Amino acid sequence: MDTPTKANGSDLTGHTVDANESDSLKQVGYPSAAPPGSTPSESPEAKFTIYVFATTLVAAGAGLLFGFDNGIIGGVTGTSEFQRKFLPDVYRVNFLEGGDVGNYCKFDSQILQLFVSVLYLAAAVIAPLAGVIANWRGRQICLLTSGCLFGIGIILLATAQNVAMVVLGRILMGGGVGFANSSSTLYIVEVAPPRLRGGLGIMFQLVQTLGILIAYVYNYAFDTIDWGWRLSIALGGVFAALVVIGALVLPDTPISLLNRGRPEDARRVLERVRGTANVDAEFQEMTEIVTASKKVPNSFKSLLFNPRYRPQLAVVIAMPIFQQWTGINAVIFYTPQIFSYVSHSKGLEDTVVVGAVNVAATLVSTFTVDRFGRKFLFTEGGLQMAVCMIIIAATLGTEYGMHPNGRLPEPVSRGLLAVFCTFAAGYAWSFGPLPWLLPSEVQPLETRAAAASVNTTLNMLMTFVVAQTFQDQLCAERWGVFAFFAGLELLFVVLILFFLPETKGKSMDQIAVSFGDHWFWGKLKGVRTFKEERYEAAKNAPAGAKQTTIVAH
Ligand code: BGC
Repeated sequence: MDTPTKANGSDLTGHTVDANESDSLKQVGYPSAAPPGSTPSESPEAKFTIYVFATTLVAAGAGLLFGFDNGIIGGVTGTSEFQRKFLPDVYRVNFLEGGDVGNYCKFDSQILQLFVSVLYLAAAVIAPLAGVIANWRGRQICLLTSGCLFGIGIILLATAQNVAMVVLGRILMGGGVGFANSSSTLYIVEVAPPRLRGGLGIMFQLVQTLGILIAYVYNYAFDTIDWGWRLSIALGGVFAALVVIGALVLPDTPISLLNRGRPEDARRVLERVRGTANVDAEFQEMTEIVTASKKVPNSFKSLLFNPRYRPQLAVVIAMPIFQQWTGINAVIFYTPQIFSYVSHSKGLEDTVVVGAVNVAATLVSTFTVDRFGRKFLFTEGGLQMAVCMIIIAATLGTEYGMHPNGRLPEPVSRGLLAVFCTFAAGYAWSFGPLPWLLPSEVQPLETRAAAASVNTTLNMLMTFVVAQTFQDQLCAERWGVFAFFAGLELLFVVLILFFLPETKGKSMDQIAVSFGDHWFWGKLKGVRTFKEERYEAAKNAPAGAKQTTIVAH
């Protein structure tokens, strides 16, 4: 059997795990050069096989499902047909001039907010459960469940005859999102060749923005058909079918099979996925990873209660709150409504433009995140978003309501569209991808699995709260709600500047050490001890490892 070689690579989140880091991890109790969830040695004969391609496609399908959910509902609930059937109060105000509630309150309906937000509540409840199932029964079953729940949800929603069917459909789709988010990235990075892992991991966020754009395009394209909203939703079934078929034909991941005590199957699948029988080194290393990961103490208990992980816990809690309270989903979910009452168009084409900018700017983030660093992107993106929100608040505050039938003059509404796009771009290269990356990136291995799960659940919960409250806030605070988001964005930038150490290019040990060196976190007793242990570990590591880690210290 080949000896495992020391290889650089990336772990489940795309975080770089170098040979030095692996060595120092050995010193803190991990028997393998590769920590649990990190890159096993890759055979030089390993190919980019059809299995890898198919897995990427299926996992991408799961990302599309998530984005599609986010994007579809705003346009659907904006149509007269949907409102007439399920939101009669909103319909009366919007289409029958029945009642003078003022422009800001036209969409202030508890049922409308429930349609949008209930999906995220369901996803928040399901995500931790899906995490447990992914470990217990494998990743494949989670993907399959995700596609099925989503498919049934779509059927219910597309054929809905009453409010209960709409709500149930959205709940099932939320269950699908919970399963998809907890398993698809895992699936992709456990099957992808190590050299492609980071890039493929980021692809999930990118296809998610594509899903939003596709939903916007459907809403726009079918707007002239009475039952067009049903068609827009039904077409999402293509993504669900892709995920179901994929999950049925694809094998579970080798490491998941190994983890569940099926070494022969794991080996067979690994050979198939890599396209070669020469997988000894990788298989050996995988076995060590699984053995080591079973020795890691309870990940949740450590993260939540051990004082040494306070900074890491703070990041896990802060990131989803910061992301969602930038107000991004007020824009993503409700732009069709916002534009329908400020611009001369129905708002749907404007939404497509915002969606396209979101995709393009997410692409930019993949090239800049390791060049400019996290704090720079957060600061630039956050300031850009805050300025845009202030302009939106000022424009609505001074112009809105000053013109006949509430519409803004065309140059003003066009200008506003440009500002919304600039906002979306700022988000897409900062507060969009980074809050998914950082909560895992700052974790030592022992808390990483718990961190991913807590982060997803909190993110869904925050999405639920914003979706549930935005229309109320808009109605009560009018343009002030945009100023409120601007204030929060500025606050988040300041908090990040003061409390987050830069993680760009740092190994796991170096990140632990930079919390210990931090002016605030370093004063907490547990954190300092933790830092000293990691420092000792790095010092005792073999010669090559010593240099990098100690220099960074
Ligand atoms: C967020 C979603 C949001 C999307 C917009 C994601 O990172 O989690 O809530 O709708 O970005 O692109």
